[in-house]
Amino acid sequence: MKPTENGITMTPAILVTGGAGYVGSHTVTTLLERQSGQEFEIVVVDNLSNAYRSEGQKKPESLRIIEEITNKTIHFYELDIRDADALSKVFETHNVECVIHFAALKAVGESVEKPLEYYQANIGGTCTLMETMRKYGVFKLIYSSSCTVYGEPERLPLDEGHPTGRGLTSPYGKSKYFCEEIMKDLSISDKKWKIISLRYFNPVGAHRSGRIGEDPAGIPNNLMPFIAQVAVGRLSELKVFGNDYPTPDGTGVRDYIHVEDLAEGHVKAMKLFQQPGFSGFHAINLGTGTGYSVLEMVAAFKAASGKDIPYRIIGRRAGDIATNYSDVALSHKLLGWRAVKTLEDMCADTWRWQSKNPNGFKTS
Ligand code: NAD
Ligand code: WQD
Repeated sequence: MKPTENGITMTPAILVTGGAGYVGSHTVTTLLERQSGQEFEIVVVDNLSNAYRSEGQKKPESLRIIEEITNKTIHFYELDIRDADALSKVFETHNVECVIHFAALKAVGESVEKPLEYYQANIGGTCTLMETMRKYGVFKLIYSSSCTVYGEPERLPLDEGHPTGRGLTSPYGKSKYFCEEIMKDLSISDKKWKIISLRYFNPVGAHRSGRIGEDPAGIPNNLMPFIAQVAVGRLSELKVFGNDYPTPDGTGVRDYIHVEDLAEGHVKAMKLFQQPGFSGFHAINLGTGTGYSVLEMVAAFKAASGKDIPYRIIGRRAGDIATNYSDVALSHKLLGWRAVKTLEDMCADTWRWQSKNPNGFKTS
């Protein structure tokens, strides 16, 4: 049963799993910034396994700050998406219209050490979420997928028709691929499902205010937060993983995309749900279509921050590929979306966040 108040349907809600994390918090911000009135509620569920909450606070810092930035309220429930009963209560309390599903474990290296934990959280969690959605008659889902599902590129740019699931090296990457396969099967079995799997390339940057951003626990695994922590003096030097790739300067090339552009892509994807006849499973890349090397990223960050970024070339990291970047044609066509932020914006906004918050949310 969908919740109603005195027989009147309550305000539609967008349920955001993992909304306290990096991409989720920026997407929630953009959704609220785009909202002119009270068209929908934002309901975030997160188990806080990778989000920080200050002592005595009910909400994690990211959501608390978003409420300040936007002057709007976010409904927050601390729960694990594998907890079907807790999740059901949220569907019974709010008039959930659609779900944006970010909640997952995402550390590639850790997933090799802890495959069961990753499959349980990412695949088990996604299945429980979709079972609960079906139980409450909610069939619109936006899923956070990854360019990692393409494995080693057979051709570039990577278009959505490129094979997926081949040669994947980590349980993390496989969990994203398996979830997409499950979603395909589900949408074939029941035509009510409308599932959009957004395949992110490399999200970087922060909200332009510098008040929210990426706050990795421990030593960052990804390039941009690592560079930012070198620039702010938390880490002494960047280790560049190999300079013998078949790329212009020998270092790995990736399609970095500003997290605010990525967030806007979700808002545009939600509009697809309203298109008459739209149904089934659709995978769509979210990238810029342009690749930058590690050394280009270092140079751009140095220019944006005015800080020296000492680096040392070491051996390749296991499982890394030389180059990837996206074919953006489908996102332009289906979503009417394109990334507008530049590499300079990505570095400047990361630096604003990092320099204002050298220890992440713990100092906010
Ligand atoms: P993140 O870790 O910052 O955010 C994920 C959030 O989900 C965290 O707040 C965490 O506490 C929460 N969470 C994790 N497991 C949960 C569970 N079982 N129940 C409830 N909450 C849970 O990660 P992110 O970078 O924001 O990534 C969001 C999504 O995008 C993930 O699905 C990730 O796989 C995907 N993705 C991320 C990248 C990237 O480079 N950041 C690239 C491609 C895809
Ligand atoms: C970028 C480049 C590294 C760190 C990962 C996941 C992928 C997706 C995005 C979620 C590469 C080099 C990095 C460092 C370095 N996430 N590098 N020194 O590997 O493209 O993708 O994040 O879905 O699934 O695998 O991103 O930021 O780790 O690396 O030289 O300390 O920077 O070798 O060329 P990657 P990354």
